[in-house]
Amino acid sequence: MRNILIIGGSRGIGNSILNYQLNTGNYCINISRNSLAVNNENYKEYNLDILKDELPDIDSIDSLVYCPGSITLKPFLQLKEEDFKNDFEINVIGAVRSIQKYLNVLKKGSNPSIVLFSTVAVTKGMAFHASISSAKAAIEGITKSLAAEFAPTVRVNCIAPTITKTELAKNILRNEKIEENISNSHPLKKICEADDVAAVANFLISKESNKITGQIMRVDSGMSTLKI
Ligand SMILES: NC(=O)c1ccc[n+]([C@@H]2O[C@H](COP(=O)([O-])OP(=O)(O)OC[C@H]3O[C@@H](n4cnc5c(N)ncnc54)[C@H](OP(=O)(O)O)[C@@H]3O)[C@@H](O)[C@H]2O)c1
Repeated sequence: MRNILIIGGSRGIGNSILNYQLNTGNYCINISRNSLAVNNENYKEYNLDILKDELPDIDSIDSLVYCPGSITLKPFLQLKEEDFKNDFEINVIGAVRSIQKYLNVLKKGSNPSIVLFSTVAVTKGMAFHASISSAKAAIEGITKSLAAEFAPTVRVNCIAPTITKTELAKNILRNEKIEENISNSHPLKKICEADDVAAVANFLISKESNKITGQIMRVDSGMSTLKI
């Protein structure tokens, strides 16, 4: 049994990872502000704010997945310094806090690994994404830096999804027509479900990916690399 720490397992992609890991018999620890009604002896949760509260001591962790993030889309002149700071806090500082807190425990884990989240908008320039793309570019940078620093012990990888049907994206995917238009703008004519992105995270924390570190996995229906 592996011990998987999911920061942000209460909904969205993190919740999909959590359900899969519990179903495969692994032990899951979730840290989120909201509680999940999970009745499973292999599940433990801590309800706290990753940016404000003290993080709990945890004895054994094999993989850490950091899911909290944001989508702040505004024309550049409407973005306030506060927007940039908030995006950096939840996307980058929260991940840094988590990794600093649990690195020494992770180092003692079995095939230990970390998974972080970026966005397609780092590789592909997209209007109105200046704040979120700069925070997520930092995540891609820290992924590679930490992968080098923590080798050969802890693998560090990142997933850069296109828009994914979760609570976070609900204001963008406001209706079926918008969703269809956005889907059709992708080479594969599909946007992501939470399970699509979670499947790649589950692979990156499995032993099957034990030679993969420092990678940015682009789960984006071809959006960042193809022109067709
Ligand atoms: N959805 C997309 O379209 C999309 C696209 C590109 C990249 N991404 C990235 O993929 C990652 C996961 O996205 P998602 O759509 O699954 O997000 P989500 O639906 O907003 O879920 C985020 C999770 O993080 C937790 N969380 C948020 N703020 C927290 C805080 N301050 N303290 C503790 N927990 C906190 C939330 O739980 P509580 O609210 O209970 O605290 C929730 O469980 C994010 O980094 C996001 O930027 C998503």
